Amino acid sequence: MTRILSGIKPTGNLTLGNYIGALKHFKDFQEQGEVFIFIADLHALTLPIDPEVLRQNTRDLAAFYLASGLDPEKTTIFVQSAVPQHAELNAILQNYLYMGELSRMTQFKEKSAHMKDSAIGLGLFAYPVLMASDIVLYDADIVPVGEDQVQHVEITRDLVNRMNKRYGEKTLVLPNYKINKVGARIMSLSDPTVKMSKSDPKGDIFLKDPVEVIRKKIMSAVTDSGSEIYYDKENKPGVSNLLTIYASLKEISIEEAVAHFQGYRYGDFKKEIAQTVIDELEPFQKRYQEILASGSYLEVLRKGAKKASQIAEKTLKRVQNAVGLLDTDE
Ligand code: TYM
Repeated sequence: MTRILSGIKPTGNLTLGNYIGALKHFKDFQEQGEVFIFIADLHALTLPIDPEVLRQNTRDLAAFYLASGLDPEKTTIFVQSAVPQHAELNAILQNYLYMGELSRMTQFKEKSAHMKDSAIGLGLFAYPVLMASDIVLYDADIVPVGEDQVQHVEITRDLVNRMNKRYGEKTLVLPNYKINKVGARIMSLSDPTVKMSKSDPKGDIFLKDPVEVIRKKIMSAVTDSGSEIYYDKENKPGVSNLLTIYASLKEISIEEAVAHFQGYRYGDFKKEIAQTVIDELEPFQKRYQEILASGSYLEVLRKGAKKASQIAEKTLKRVQNAVGLLDTDE
């Protein structure tokens, strides 16, 4: 059966970008194969984070996963650090990705750009190794992500090919990334030439934002000169971003979204986008709050980690054996 795996880092506040690019679609995979969705808490340590904030973000993310429609009967939902095989496989795989290729990763370059060498942790540099471990541990065939994570899946493929060439074709399963046709890269509302990200409060819509804050943020989104509504990422990045948000939430094409807004003025256009986002997020927030208050996610995470660990252990053993580590139980 096809294996599908993805994860989100519990850093900062989840954004509408995370929702549209990843979270919203995870549930659709439940009918297509065996799904593993995890909370990448070890990855959250790659930049400084307050321990209590990390713990709360982890609870939030568990509740968000369930609120998004993931069914724990169908999807294995777990916390990365509760499955020790991630770190164990990481310790092996780190020897097969190299300094040169790791230093060329866009995410590393962006995140470390304003940091002194003396403040950049090894984990930030070696991030793709742990991410590759996450993916290959479950023999994942498909990895649904937003555009910014594609490079990390590609380096995972390089690693898999390298390992399989050296240790045999069946050592690791080669994964493919899957990005949405519409909404793989949602841009900041205040500067639509940069990606919406958890660390940019100005141009972001956070999944926990109160409805009125969401409305305000969208109403004050940067639009472009002119008054016509059409899709042109180069010359109309603001309008194009709002059209993308609309199309992905309504699950229609960009062309259909453009046709819908023919003859609209910017003000009414934004009003309708805001209402669309609110119609999507308001019930989602309600479900999230109920789940968080009930504490039901804890049992889901415990069961998920147990199941994940059983599967992960098999892959770990296979790799340990392939590279020549002696199994004293045999
Ligand atoms: P993270 O936590 O940064 O983001 C979670 C998911 O949201 C997508 N995303 C976006 N999509 C569209 N527009 C945006 N503005 C936007 N911002 C973020 C991301 O592409 C991602 O799919 N390294 C991963 C977590 C991870 C992982 C994995 C994912 C760790 N191990 C294994 C897949 C498989 C990350 O930091 O995502």
